[in-house]
Amino acid sequence: MRTDSPQTIYRKNYTPPSFLVESVELGFDLDPARTIVANRIKLVRNRDGKHSDIELHGEHIELVGVRMNGKRLKPGQYTLSEHGLTIRKAPAKVTLDIETVLAPQENTSLSGLYVSNGNFFTQCEAEGFRRITFFPDRPDVMAKYTVMLRADKEKFPVLLSNGNLIEQGELGDGRHYAKWEDPFKKPSYLFALVAARLVCQEERYTLQSGREVLLQVWVEEGNLDKTDYAMQSLKNSIRWDEQRFGLELDLDRFMIVAVGDFNMGAMENKGLNIFNTKYVLANPRVATDVDYAGIEAVVGHEYFHNWTGNRVTCRDWFQLSLKEGLTVFRDQEFSADMIGTDTGRAVTRIDQVRTLRQAQFPEDAGPMAHPVRPDSFVEINNFYTVTIYEKGAEVVRMMQTLVGRDGFRKGMDLYFARHDGQAVQCDDFRAAMADANGRDLKQFERWYSQAGTPVVKAVTQYDAAAQTYHITLAQSCPDTPGQTAKLPFHIPVAVGLLGADGKDLPLYTDGAAGQGTVVLELTEATQTFHFSGVAQRPTPSLLRDFSAPVVLDYDYSDAELLHLFSHDSDPVNRWEAGQRLAMARLLKLTADVGAGAPLALDATFIAAQRALLTDATLDAAFRELALILPSETIIAERMEVVDPQAIHTARQFMRRSIAAALKPELLAQYQANQTPGAYSPDAQSAGKRALKNLALAYLLIAPQAAELELAQRQFDAADNMTDRAAALAALIHSGAPDGAASALKSYFADFEHEALVIDKWFAMQAGAPGTDVAAVRKLMTHPAFTLKNPNRARSLIFNFCGGNPSQFHAADGSGYAFWAEQVIALDALNPQVAARLARSMDRWRRYVPALQAHMKAALERVAGSASLSNDVLEVVSKALA
Ligand code: PHE
Ligand code: ZN
Repeated sequence: MRTDSPQTIYRKNYTPPSFLVESVELGFDLDPARTIVANRIKLVRNRDGKHSDIELHGEHIELVGVRMNGKRLKPGQYTLSEHGLTIRKAPAKVTLDIETVLAPQENTSLSGLYVSNGNFFTQCEAEGFRRITFFPDRPDVMAKYTVMLRADKEKFPVLLSNGNLIEQGELGDGRHYAKWEDPFKKPSYLFALVAARLVCQEERYTLQSGREVLLQVWVEEGNLDKTDYAMQSLKNSIRWDEQRFGLELDLDRFMIVAVGDFNMGAMENKGLNIFNTKYVLANPRVATDVDYAGIEAVVGHEYFHNWTGNRVTCRDWFQLSLKEGLTVFRDQEFSADMIGTDTGRAVTRIDQVRTLRQAQFPEDAGPMAHPVRPDSFVEINNFYTVTIYEKGAEVVRMMQTLVGRDGFRKGMDLYFARHDGQAVQCDDFRAAMADANGRDLKQFERWYSQAGTPVVKAVTQYDAAAQTYHITLAQSCPDTPGQTAKLPFHIPVAVGLLGADGKDLPLYTDGAAGQGTVVLELTEATQTFHFSGVAQRPTPSLLRDFSAPVVLDYDYSDAELLHLFSHDSDPVNRWEAGQRLAMARLLKLTADVGAGAPLALDATFIAAQRALLTDATLDAAFRELALILPSETIIAERMEVVDPQAIHTARQFMRRSIAAALKPELLAQYQANQTPGAYSPDAQSAGKRALKNLALAYLLIAPQAAELELAQRQFDAADNMTDRAAALAALIHSGAPDGAASALKSYFADFEHEALVIDKWFAMQAGAPGTDVAAVRKLMTHPAFTLKNPNRARSLIFNFCGGNPSQFHAADGSGYAFWAEQVIALDALNPQVAARLARSMDRWRRYVPALQAHMKAALERVAGSASLSNDVLEVVSKALA
């Protein structure tokens, strides 16, 4: 058990830095076992500072020596602790020369300077720079950097850092050097270096202004055939930001570097983005449609950070969503615009809603719930969450809904006019939006300060004689850790009314008139909105386009839902109606499983599924999404007491019933949605493949020889990974062991040297309901498995603990014991990754008592283990609190 208790850091305790940094000169003598870092910083006393002590952060590094204004400081002239170095009562202007020594090859945390496959990389967000040198490692200290890299030329022919290459040459003794200068001031978390044996695809690209820039994508030599899509996505991102927001690339050179060992998706270091290989490498043979979409989104995301994050950065880490929420919103809009069609946009929107429900709503209802702008944290790395990112993006989206697209652009323009080059707060963004549009967004601030998912309860009333319609909306928000009695939010609720013919009725209401949709602004606890001239009793389409991240509670009848499902002009609500139809039945089935009652699925529901599946006027991508049933996790969130086995049985029953009833239609759609010709990842083709492969999965639920053969044939003949992986997954899930075993074997042999493809191999098995704890343990002994590589650990362990509920929640608690072991083992290597795995137990209090007891024991076992990181300790102690 740890004896020291970790410190909680509070937003209210923010104090400005006592010293600012004018310039930084870094010199690296790179050696995997022993790297020497020379750091010359020019500091000046900050007028807003509270005292004259220089406070430098530093962790896990060895201090060789420090000079102040040229004079060596003796140990009594500074204090050195586990967390940093302090020089008391320093003069107003000082130059410090600090030398540190590090062992990058021992660094398994992948934060700071580390070695991956023999190459050097850095990761400095959030607090990794302090693992390289002593420095005021906080985002409100922005400085100009010059970086000298020295390394063995044979082993590390490529030396990269931020900004522009200003000098390079030989050093004799087989070493060479490169000197880089970043013309822009930046916080330390955006520093990066790469020293590696890599090759690049490069291209000169002309900006809209006519200026030419150099774009590079750096990868290991064997991956040069997988860089086209990342490069294309980068060019699309550059063009899109010019057109949509008038934002131009401010550098002459922009680099993307792929690394196989990485904790997150990618990192927006100035001019030198470092990416998880998963979000760079693609060709049809190894990458799926989902991978391609992920690459486009993440390349866009990191590129867009150059303005929203780098040019304007965060004052402190409590403001993280200022850059992340806004940048996710921007990458979402980019992906939607790249598809271009209305249904294409809707499909991306539906995906976002699914992510919110699958991951963010549970977070907001659990022990780690926190506001979009948190008030406190123990370990900032634990706050790179779906709340900061995805809910943060929803908050930005709501502002756009309130001020309109043009108004939003005005707000962005004002934001940059005011804050370019500064480190600011979430409030500053909201103020720019409000001021540019003459809108009062004061109450809107609560989206930043109050945690929890609001519930909006709707009640409607139609008066045929007066031809009026009333919608009463009442909002509430559950308590979250440390927060009770929440105040009303400012919620945009987009609404349409459908007539009996399924068409939108014209809308006349107090605040607004609209063709098909009006945005009601709910600001009170309860509010009634009146519509006049309503000639018939309408079917309300509420919260169109998911206009706010809330739970909408409205007592729809099946008939109304079927009406919306077939006719709503808003595709998101069409999808939503289908989800509601399915959810009502899944909850009933789950209760029936629990009660031992016989299970049945009504013909109405089957008919609706059939109509949807076969409606060729609808995009394949939309049909596929609408046919996916709410996940076991999403069903669980709707229950007071969760019995994962009952949920699994109920959902499987529904899937089996659909498969049995629609077999001929599924087969017909399987055939109709083939995509002959050369593979292309475009949305149209990807949608067809998705629908075809969903049909295949259904056909393999209770397969006969013909279906097994169909999957096997697809597996053998596939010329792309989307179809190959889908066939393999269908075989694995079918539970027909022979088919899957040989396919798994040949897949492994074909792709043994493609790490990302082998990740899929582990992931597919980890997530299959037939894979129990023992099978996962066996997979861990496979020579290709390692805990040290985060992608590999995620593929097997995370996908089992988070994506295979019926096995993870085995009645004997063996899944939880496995979880505890892996959290502890991972924590010794990589606390950030371990803490993410620790989160899979967040919702333990919701489970049936027998499981709860096992879960609690597992949590206590982790909490009680020796030398736990702050990362994991924060997660498990909040879970147990
Ligand atoms: N800032 C990165 C992003 O959102 C994420 C990240 C955080 C990467 C911390 C590494 C470490 O794009
Ligand atoms: Zn980001």
